Amino acid sequence: MTEDHSIEGDYERGEGDHRIGHGDHSIVSDHTAEITKLDEVHYPVPDPGHPEHLPRLTDVDVKAADRATRQVATFFGLVPVLAIAFAVVYFAMPGDMYFDFGPLRANARNLGLGVSFGLALLFIGMGAVQWGRTLMDDHEMVDYRHGAASADEDKQYLITELQKTADEAQLTRRKVIGRSLIGALATIFLPMLVGLADLGPWPTKKKRAETIEATIWKEGIRLVHDVTYEPIKATDIEIGQLVNAEPENLKDLEGTAFLVEKAKAAIIIVRMNPNTIKIPDSRKDWQVGGILCYSKICTHVGCPISLWEQQTHHLLCPCHQSTFDLSDSGIVVFGPAARALPQLPITTDADGYLVARSGFTVPTGPSFFERDSRHDFKRGDN
Ligand code: FES
Repeated sequence: MTEDHSIEGDYERGEGDHRIGHGDHSIVSDHTAEITKLDEVHYPVPDPGHPEHLPRLTDVDVKAADRATRQVATFFGLVPVLAIAFAVVYFAMPGDMYFDFGPLRANARNLGLGVSFGLALLFIGMGAVQWGRTLMDDHEMVDYRHGAASADEDKQYLITELQKTADEAQLTRRKVIGRSLIGALATIFLPMLVGLADLGPWPTKKKRAETIEATIWKEGIRLVHDVTYEPIKATDIEIGQLVNAEPENLKDLEGTAFLVEKAKAAIIIVRMNPNTIKIPDSRKDWQVGGILCYSKICTHVGCPISLWEQQTHHLLCPCHQSTFDLSDSGIVVFGPAARALPQLPITTDADGYLVARSGFTVPTGPSFFERDSRHDFKRGDN
């Protein structure tokens, strides 16, 4: 070695010498010492080098290695059990069962799904960590910097190393690890597949008519204030006023059924001067002295809406700016909604309270998947 020996020269010398096994630390230390000696400006303090490598218990004790193998296989083996538990909880656990933890309340099904899927992921991670820490080969390596291009011999070297790594990871010797890992990774996707069923039933025409297009409105159901369920008298509503309301029979429902029906049946009641609005002949008896009732659910993608401009009689949806003219059968005057706002036919009962004459005559809710009806809408059609 000469006086002008460069660091790069040392790196070149190291190429191909990528692996240093147990007991080969002198190579690392000698190399570092050489740099230290030759370049005292950059390395003024001697590098103590790597500490002595000590074998792990599993390197020297077969029983400990077997024990670690069982631990890894147990972690991986629990994953299919938990994945199946996820599917069982999803289908078998009632959605309205709750557990109380002091002041906290948890839905039993959500808790079961979260615990089973969370533990499955955790056990894959714990198995992998235990495998790496106790059983995979523990030799130290030095890899010198070099150009980014991969030579053919490097590629060949990589393939050989991968094969060697598989051997060193004891995948060939302890086959149960590989098999249990394959089982774990194959079944970890089961909860995700099962979760797809949560997107809802296939929306055939019949299914839509039975579910999303059906509301609890029917003849004689009173219109009541949202939240308080106070019935609404026609004489209590002023011209220009908007009232958020619900069907009276909503208060008989609970839990998910309550939320589902509320999302479809929510309404707004507005009072306008009957002499300044357009009421088609087919809807003459759908209103009470200028009091009209419409669905509160925007027909674009279903936001609940109540931004009311009483001078123009426009109802604005802040989500994507669909605008409905409530003085003209709820037609869309602006925005992406494809269908007019459904109108609920109303009248009054013997006590003067507002009641429904029937249910909605058209579906409430989103219409973004339908063609744009603004250009061929006939008043009274919606
Ligand atoms: Fe109303 Fe989009 S949801 S405009």
